[in-house]
Amino acid sequence: MTIQILDHADALRRKVAPGLATKRKSALGQFMTPSSVARFMASLFPPATLQTCRLLDAGAGLGALSCAFIDRWAAGDGLKFQDAEVDAYEIDDALRAHLEQTLANYTGGLPVAPKIIAGDFIWEAARRILQGSKSYTHVILNPPYKKINSASEHRLILRRMGIETVNLYTAFVALSLAMMRSGGQLVAIIPRSFCNGPYYRPFRDFLLGRAALRHMHLFASRNQAFKDDDVLQENIISSGWSVPRRKAM
Ligand SMILES: C[S@@+](CC[C@H](N)C(=O)[O-])C[C@H]1O[C@@H](n2cnc3c(N)ncnc32)[C@H](O)[C@@H]1O
Repeated sequence: MTIQILDHADALRRKVAPGLATKRKSALGQFMTPSSVARFMASLFPPATLQTCRLLDAGAGLGALSCAFIDRWAAGDGLKFQDAEVDAYEIDDALRAHLEQTLANYTGGLPVAPKIIAGDFIWEAARRILQGSKSYTHVILNPPYKKINSASEHRLILRRMGIETVNLYTAFVALSLAMMRSGGQLVAIIPRSFCNGPYYRPFRDFLLGRAALRHMHLFASRNQAFKDDDVLQENIISSGWSVPRRKAM
């Protein structure tokens, strides 16, 4: 059975995204992934056979990334799971209402249990990490991009988790990695800025101490990935897997 709920999520994106309030859109980094990019990201997960897939989509928006992943599984394209649990975190009430409806479309036809989690992912993830939770087998991310002030609560809670970073996008990746099982797979579309400069050095150490990078995709032009939103930014898609923690080089 091939289900393409992603097409439905993309139609919703084209309808909902232009109406998002500009101030809130920029404060929460609400730039949704078009279906072509979402599908490409889902295609980067290596083939897997598992009883239960536990997928994390942090800052899930309208659900494009979860849909792309579940559609690939439903199409029988290399992902062989008996069942799947999907944790979709979204802070915005209005987006969350759409997200809930979109992911509910799967539950009649597939053994999938979507859980939509309200609130701030940084706090929710920190709470789970402190409880020792390391359950995700797969993570798919287009996290918000926003500077974290040095005296903010986010900065302090991240520091408590051993994560020293200056932007929400790197915080989302680091927290997701910390909640992944050994051997879990993560695919994220993020700005390229973490690759250089002293501010991102602690994040790079965190990343390379916990994960092996398998693939990096660079877009040919800076305005390609989020062209509907006029975003001019150099993005990359990276995929890798979490390995047992080792000392950073
Ligand atoms: C860049 S958008 C990506 C949305 C979706 N993942 C996609 O690819 O289309 C980031 C999303 O994260 C949400 N967000 C921002 N800050 C958040 C936070 N602290 N906790 C949870 N979600 C957050 C925003 O409302 C937005 O929907």
